[in-house]
Amino acid sequence: MSSVTDTSETTHSASHDVHDPHLHDEVKVELSPDFLAQADKIVSKYPVSKRSAVMPLIYLWQDNFGYVSQQGVRWIAQRIEIQPINVMEVLTFYPMFRQHPVGKIQFKVCRTLSCALAGSYETCEFLRKKCGITEIDEHGLGVSDDGKFSVEFVECLASCGTGPVVMINDDLYEKVDTSKAQELLNKVS
Ligand code: FES
Repeated sequence: MSSVTDTSETTHSASHDVHDPHLHDEVKVELSPDFLAQADKIVSKYPVSKRSAVMPLIYLWQDNFGYVSQQGVRWIAQRIEIQPINVMEVLTFYPMFRQHPVGKIQFKVCRTLSCALAGSYETCEFLRKKCGITEIDEHGLGVSDDGKFSVEFVECLASCGTGPVVMINDDLYEKVDTSKAQELLNKVS
């Protein structure tokens, strides 16, 4: 996962006028050449209306930084010459986008019907408790106080016959009842 550095001089700004008086303020964020190349590639797919790149750019930012900060919102807005509020509209509409940091170890628990019937709510509650998570946000994301763990519900992970299905970072695990969840916790802790 990349890191954001507020003190960097590296910028990538848009050049057209828009209504936000702060839109041309320098977004001080260190972005790798690879990130910038990926962003350019995404935007190039929308030659008629680059504002259509807003969702893939949000995905790109989140994939790199774990969540979309206000800095990210402004950078995306500048890159495709829209208002930050237009980025926020998309960011806040879809539950898979995050505005807050997640844990270094991310548990994603499927809550869709098959997994719910197989016990995913119990698994999720168990993981939250074991990770010391007491507060969850409006999308069901909870982060431990030390930032080590986060637990959240997600929609179908495409392994519906083997629920409850849980992802730990990029790895998928099947039939994760509370006892398997404890095993996995022991393994990653
Ligand atoms: S319902 Fe959980 S993986 Fe599809």
